[in-house]
Amino acid sequence: MKAVLRERVARHVAALIEAGALRPGQRVLSVRELARQLSVSTATVVDAFSLLEARGLVEARARSGHYVRSEAPERPRAMRARLDSVPVSGDRMRGLFRSMRDRSIVPFGASSVSPGLLPTERLGHLAGLVARSSAAIGASYDPLPGVATLRAHVARRATRHGCATRPEDVIVTVGAIEAIGLCLRAVARAGDTVAVESPTYFGVLALLAELGLQAVEIPSDSADGMKLDALAIAFERHDLKACVAVPNFSNPCGARMPDDAKEKLASMLGQRRVALIETDVYGDLPHDDDRPRPVKAFDRDGWVMHCSSFSKTLAPGYRVGWVVPGRFYDRVEELKFVHTVASPTITQMAVAAFLDSGGYERHLRKLRRALSSQVGAVQDAVARYFPRGTRVSRPRGGFLLWIQLPDRCVSAIALQRAALERGISIAPGPMFSARGSFQRFLRLSCGHPWSEAAERAIETLGKLAGGDS
Ligand SMILES: Cc1ncc(COP(=O)(O)O)c(C=O)c1O
Repeated sequence: MKAVLRERVARHVAALIEAGALRPGQRVLSVRELARQLSVSTATVVDAFSLLEARGLVEARARSGHYVRSEAPERPRAMRARLDSVPVSGDRMRGLFRSMRDRSIVPFGASSVSPGLLPTERLGHLAGLVARSSAAIGASYDPLPGVATLRAHVARRATRHGCATRPEDVIVTVGAIEAIGLCLRAVARAGDTVAVESPTYFGVLALLAELGLQAVEIPSDSADGMKLDALAIAFERHDLKACVAVPNFSNPCGARMPDDAKEKLASMLGQRRVALIETDVYGDLPHDDDRPRPVKAFDRDGWVMHCSSFSKTLAPGYRVGWVVPGRFYDRVEELKFVHTVASPTITQMAVAAFLDSGGYERHLRKLRRALSSQVGAVQDAVARYFPRGTRVSRPRGGFLLWIQLPDRCVSAIALQRAALERGISIAPGPMFSARGSFQRFLRLSCGHPWSEAAERAIETLGKLAGGDS
């Protein structure tokens, strides 16, 4: 509890710095004032200031309080815009797959949440109840587009986030990855070109490779996401068939696109009559409970194809995802039938029963607190153990950190290899780029509780990154 409160205070101050409400060189409220304002003890605020100091955001000045540091640790740089169309090779994922199977490995590689933070027992219990409720369940194909109560929940939640989504607009899929694949198939065919964020989730790159699609990489920064001026130029140069983006707490850099940019993105795509394939699997995980709107909320004419799942919040193994394909509904439904006929019934019904029981919001609040504090712990450890000059993202949601090593460090691929030999997995930067950019970047997943072993692993990674073998 103490650690959670400390983290909450630290996040509050960090958000003020982030938003520019506190400028470099400016004095932060005193310990006493801050404690009163946030209704916490002065000891908690003192602890929070230590965290902020370790993260390089503030500095203590003798007898005068805490000040925003002029040179707060920098965020990783966005890539230089090249904007040419390149073929995609899918083989970069293999190393990570292998390390995901080995349970003895310290798991900084895969983007997954520790089972201990998920309501696995309750879901298992509900799945049992569902399976026993009728002998007919599982004895026939679930009719498309999926279990009605689940689709009603998805639509109700989407409406709360600003989307005009009805249950009949939703098609249930096997995870978000099937949703993205169906969308790509609906709007593009082999040889076509699509725009992707750079860096982008390697699962998207693997799909592009599989479908024979070319990618134009649009630079994205770790604060605001895809650079829309670069996307506009890409539209002038290429006949783009779709744009694929993760506007809320992107993978890997954790960016949250501001609402005005989301609105602009929706209108850019709508005007050009090109689909935006939006993935929102991290949108329910803001660290400050301020659930960002998806781009779908700004969609006027159905050009946004919205994909998501419960993989990061409830149960990745249940593989319950969905797509709201807008104007491409009929084509996506047809493709879903062609590829998998339907989604498994029991897991859909178990998730629907969990949502019926009303515990999802409470679970999310707890999960967000835990992830926020885990991300903070990894940021602190990176600040302590990684070589000077290392840049780290400051995500306001999700559980991924994007890290840029200084040029003098080893390459991320060499680091991955050396780390695996020591039982630690990471995701190296080139996995997130069609052309293998980001040679000195890595993604660390902070989905698992902080521990002594995790701290030693970050220390080891820091040494290896600096060239100690
Ligand atoms: C951006 C993004 N999209 C899709 C997925 C896949 O989600 P699912 O497990 O629901 O298929 C992931 C998982 O890491 C992801 O990060």
